[in-house]
Amino acid sequence: YEQTFDAKLLHIESRPGRNSKNGTTDLEFFMRCDVHGSDVDVFIDSLKSIVEDVRSVPEEKGEGPWFPRQLKDLDRCNMLITKFDPDLDQGHPGYRDPEYRKRRAFIAELASRYKQGDPLPTVEYTAEELSTWREVYRQLRSVYPSLACRQFLDSLQQLEQECGYGEDRIPQLRDVSAFLKERTGFQLRPVAGLLSARDFLNSLAFRVFQCTQYVRHSSAPMHSPEPDCCHELLGHIPMLADKEYAQFSQEIGLASLGVSDEDIEKLSTLYWFTVEFGLCKQNGSVKAYGAGLLSSYGELTHALSNEPEYKPFIPEETAVQPYQDQTYQPVYFVSESFEDAKLKLRRYSAAIKRPFAVRYEPFTCTVEVLDQPCRIQNALRHQKKTSLS
Ligand SMILES: [Fe+2]
Repeated sequence: YEQTFDAKLLHIESRPGRNSKNGTTDLEFFMRCDVHGSDVDVFIDSLKSIVEDVRSVPEEKGEGPWFPRQLKDLDRCNMLITKFDPDLDQGHPGYRDPEYRKRRAFIAELASRYKQGDPLPTVEYTAEELSTWREVYRQLRSVYPSLACRQFLDSLQQLEQECGYGEDRIPQLRDVSAFLKERTGFQLRPVAGLLSARDFLNSLAFRVFQCTQYVRHSSAPMHSPEPDCCHELLGHIPMLADKEYAQFSQEIGLASLGVSDEDIEKLSTLYWFTVEFGLCKQNGSVKAYGAGLLSSYGELTHALSNEPEYKPFIPEETAVQPYQDQTYQPVYFVSESFEDAKLKLRRYSAAIKRPFAVRYEPFTCTVEVLDQPCRIQNALRHQKKTSLS
């Protein structure tokens, strides 16, 4: 017999599943639905009659969106945005190259299987990947001294001296993660592609940076539509080795825990125009500190030419600026200094409204939620103790 009930589908996406049989791959669907509590069992049963396996994660209404509270929870922060995936995006330089897509999928699969606490996967890169890396490194390295900010240059030098950075070798995430851990407490986690803004930002709260490991297509070394390891290793890692920058990245992460979709959208727009495409003044000239710029020779030279429009960085205005993710940005935001960008962003994220506060416990890498007076009192007492000792 048929059962009827109301269910509102809020989100649906599909991805290749982890099980493959006889050469065919399963499809996994991720759905977010609004269903009345009394209908949940019927709803799940009806799904079970048409698919092989159903797993559900209840999300109580009124509590706000789920968010990770401990490192282990990051295993659930893995929702991918497939917009720039070379299997689906016809504009991706690898779209018509089945060999490339296979290789990218193989490396992405290592990330999909990763669970918190596993050793970071290592990848033996091919001669073609190495040659792409070499070209990217050589081109960018030659313009960094004149276009990159001081903090970036200092860290890159350390990475070259102590972490095997150079044009002849693609650094392994394992080594880079260990290097960062010592400098700023940040660690890397492999990711299979472009993550949803919420999952990406939430991970930063734990000083975890989700990092792709595959290499961009060899036909377009100067620009990649999706993040790749050239983007992460050259754009993000040197900045994350800077103490203050690391602190400020974690603060954006903490500010993103459990906030509304609307606030996530604003935070990720801010992130886009600062962490990815930010410019700042330094010693009287404009320099790049955004990772999207520092990993794309094409966009870096475009951003610091006189073609694009510059606007002063004001978080409230920047947060609602429409952005361009198909080609180079027509507008960049310039802050008075690197420190100024940090301060303003910090102030903005601290003002985001939430019905609770969060406190990060560095010894256990957990997030404590302060939503009841007794917990707030405990946290204060703890803080007093820490500052006395
Ligand atoms: Fe990025």
